[in-house]
Amino acid sequence: MTCRTPLRGIFAGLGRERLPGTVFSLVLAAAAAPSAHADANAGSVLAHQGSAGVPACVSCHGMQGEGQAASGFPRLAGQNQDYLLKELQAFADGTRKSPQMNPIASALSAAQKRDATAYFASLPAWKQQDKPNTSSPSYQRGRKLATVGDWNKEMPACFICHGAGGRGVPPHFPALVGQPRAYTRAQLEAWRSAKRANDPQGLMRSVGAKMTDQEIADVSLYLENPSPAEVEE
Ligand code: HEC
Ligand code: HEC
Repeated sequence: MTCRTPLRGIFAGLGRERLPGTVFSLVLAAAAAPSAHADANAGSVLAHQGSAGVPACVSCHGMQGEGQAASGFPRLAGQNQDYLLKELQAFADGTRKSPQMNPIASALSAAQKRDATAYFASLPAWKQQDKPNTSSPSYQRGRKLATVGDWNKEMPACFICHGAGGRGVPPHFPALVGQPRAYTRAQLEAWRSAKRANDPQGLMRSVGAKMTDQEIADVSLYLENPSPAEVEE
């Protein structure tokens, strides 16, 4: 990361005294390796065929794990495995709520969770296919929030935490690019109302609390298909 120094100032606005230390310790804390014995081949079978009481993951998350734009089902392909596994565990223990995922995650064994997340993490990360309409005002506002933030309300750029181009900084900061906009939007609304509250140190609840409906719509639109300049490192 090239932006260590400005980071401190930006984070100071988010959570005041506790944030800078929090973020740095998150970045530095190496995750225990839950993925050590994962079997991505077994994960592929589970993802495509399901198993007793568990529907095939791809029926909702797409044949290549690309997600389903119309239903707002998230992309899993290329997302960091530790992050996917953490979320699956949160669905299983109920700390993240979803009518679809709670029963599925509870039905999976620890090994199945590991294998399925190893499989989806191994699939190719998002690549741009169609050029976005970069002249849309909503898109431009979304790009600004993602890349610059909004100093007037002490809102840091999304990419400060989520990495260059929103590609994620494993293991704690997930990739955001290529997510169906309905999914990003629903998550931001859920952080804002604290309906989703499984974020470390409340980092995303702090961000969500500062966002208007318009900003949520703008940044969700932008992140679905960000312009190449922001995607390149
Ligand atoms: C019936 C549809 C459906 C099926 C089948 C399904 N999922 Fe999901 N999944 C969802 C939805 C909807 C969400 C978003 C939940 C929310 O709103 O927070 C989700 C979210 C997730 C997430 C969190 C992603 C993120 O970026 O935070 C993971 C991981 C996941 N699913 C894994 C799986 C795995 C593994 C399987 C197969 C064993 C599976 N899902 C099967 C609908 C489904
Ligand atoms: C201070 C650091 C920080 C900033 C700034 C930040 N995020 Fe996050 N974000 C996180 C962390 C940490 C998580 C993981 C939460 C968890 O573990 O469940 C996250 C998760 C998310 C998720 C859920 C992804 C998924 O698939 O589960 C979305 C969507 C998201 N952030 C969007 C944004 C957007 C949009 C912005 C800018 C407006 C932003 N974030 C700014 C730290 C940050």
